[in-house]
Amino acid sequence: MDWTLLRDQAVEAMRRAYAPYSGYPVGVAGLVDDGRHVAGCNVENAAYGVTLCAECGMVSDLVMSGGGRLVAVSCVNGEGETIMPCGRCRQLLWEHGGPDCLLMTPSGVRPMTEVLPDAFGAADLDEHRAASR
Ligand code: THU
Repeated sequence: MDWTLLRDQAVEAMRRAYAPYSGYPVGVAGLVDDGRHVAGCNVENAAYGVTLCAECGMVSDLVMSGGGRLVAVSCVNGEGETIMPCGRCRQLLWEHGGPDCLLMTPSGVRPMTEVLPDAFGAADLDEHRAASR
């Protein structure tokens, strides 16, 4: 796994961020299970709450470019430092990467099971549907 390449791609994405309100650009890059790379940057809005995190853009890139599963993700700030995705974005990564997806964190590479323990996901809905049949 080439974490340096993934971080470089996250930095490249970060340079395209639209973050005039926070002044905090974010970039993220992901490796897909078929070898594709996807990326995203944050896109802020004058109505602050409407802001799109970088991970939202990356997930859109993933789906638009053919789908698949994220296997590794790197997220950086304006200094190119590794940052943790916010809680909402960890949920996005769980949906499209699942428990085995690896995330570069400030404390090293960690699986999603550590980053979002006891996550709620599609399996919970499947179980509910099965039980109510
Ligand atoms: N941000 C992201 O893009 N991803 C995260 O996981 C954390 C926060 C953005 C949102 C906002 O534009 C800026 O960082 C400051 O919160």
